[in-house]
Amino acid sequence: MGILNLLFANRDVLNIEDIDVYEKHGGYAGLRKAVGMERQAVVDDVKLSGLRGRGGAGFPTWIKWNGLPKNYDIPHYVICNADEGEPGTYKDRELMLKLAHTLVEGMIIAGYATSSIAGYVYIRGEYVEPAWQVRKAIDQAYKKGYLGKNILGIEGFNYDLHIHLGAGSYECGEESALMSSLMGERGNPRLKFPHAPLPTVSGVWQSPTLINNVETYCAATWILANGGEAYSKLGTERSKGTKIISVSGHVHKPANYEIEMGTPLMELLETAGGIKGGKLKAVIPGGSSVQIMTAEQCTKINLDYESCAANGTLLGSGGFMAFNDRTDIVLLMKRTAEFYMHESCGKCTPCREGTRWIFKIMDRITSGNGQTDDVALLLDVCSQIDGRSYCGLGDAAAWPIVGAIKAFPEEFDYWIKYKRSPVGKNAVPPTPEVVNPLLTLTPA
Ligand SMILES: Cc1cc2nc3c(=O)[nH]c(=O)nc-3n(C[C@H](O)[C@H](O)[C@H](O)COP(=O)(O)O)c2cc1C
Ligand code: SF4
Repeated sequence: MGILNLLFANRDVLNIEDIDVYEKHGGYAGLRKAVGMERQAVVDDVKLSGLRGRGGAGFPTWIKWNGLPKNYDIPHYVICNADEGEPGTYKDRELMLKLAHTLVEGMIIAGYATSSIAGYVYIRGEYVEPAWQVRKAIDQAYKKGYLGKNILGIEGFNYDLHIHLGAGSYECGEESALMSSLMGERGNPRLKFPHAPLPTVSGVWQSPTLINNVETYCAATWILANGGEAYSKLGTERSKGTKIISVSGHVHKPANYEIEMGTPLMELLETAGGIKGGKLKAVIPGGSSVQIMTAEQCTKINLDYESCAANGTLLGSGGFMAFNDRTDIVLLMKRTAEFYMHESCGKCTPCREGTRWIFKIMDRITSGNGQTDDVALLLDVCSQIDGRSYCGLGDAAAWPIVGAIKAFPEEFDYWIKYKRSPVGKNAVPPTPEVVNPLLTLTPA
């Protein structure tokens, strides 16, 4: 367990973004191997690997790859979700910046396996430099015959790759909203299975569509080059392989770390140089939408899907944020609530209205106007959003608040009772002196 660089193996190789250097380090070997196999055998290798989607939900990748119809009377498409909007997550950025060919290769393999005619990399608007690197990699791949017509001499294997820049909306990372945006529509989500067909049956332009995260395609490149069996031997029983974790917050060495699935949370924290500016108070392991864990809970968690879920949180997108004991959890949650309120697309009432209610209550608590039943009210509002919203953003807005109330109830009570932050030099015992709550947050 611990650091295991598969996708990151060549991260620090000089000029690895150049196709010749990439090829010298084994690049495009996975694609060459794939096109020598039956298309179904490629899907079967991904199945054998046990790879699960790295965009957040951990859905088995092979089920999607296998789910596209095998008749080809309408075109099939491949989409890469490079929107990376989850606060705390920045792994896809580094993959595209340094290892864009690994992504391009993975998307060509996916195109071959699903007999698709084209792929789209949907990149968030702020990621200008990563988008340039992907552009460069695509252009180089065309020149080498890895893209275009009759790829690698395979008659009829015609496949193009395009880039589409989003406008920087968190909601456009939700797969159905992403597809709406890609088609030039407003970035609202669409009706989901079982009320509507899966994207693999009717996705972009009502055509069968495969949609995966950047890291998922990069892992597929490794799997085809090294074999699904080799990948399946890594990690835990149900969480195979590696996961890139974006570590940020109060640590000495914030960075992306590729770890074997199942690595203890505390081991990663140590690798990231440990907590700075105080003692460990809390960790959000999988991006701002997952439940925060207390220092004591952190000692029990391994970084894999099952261990996180068993401890009441999620591995999510791997946006790992660590906080020292000078962090005000209520202020942190107020900022989180503000983010989701801002990003709600407004299509459905529970999320549009509920996220505003959450923020208003958090704001009044942290302005010193909290009321005794505000915590109960927050829980009630969250219960009206969670599971009742049109897409996952509603759940994502409710979970962190409920999680923080569960993990740190005394901090909410303190704010309401004493009208000031429970952390900082003047916190205990409370004095009439007014402390600016914003000053109690230690900058990362
Ligand atoms: C509000 C919301 C935002 C999302 N943002 C992203 C994102 O930025 N990147 C991503 O890969 N998946 C995101 N997802 C998950 C996608 O909908 C989808 O599950 C994922 O792209 C599938 O890829 P995977 O199977 O490789 O994980 C988001 C989901 C929701 C509900
Ligand atoms: S939950 Fe509703 S309002 Fe919120 S982003 Fe999704 S569709 Fe839009």
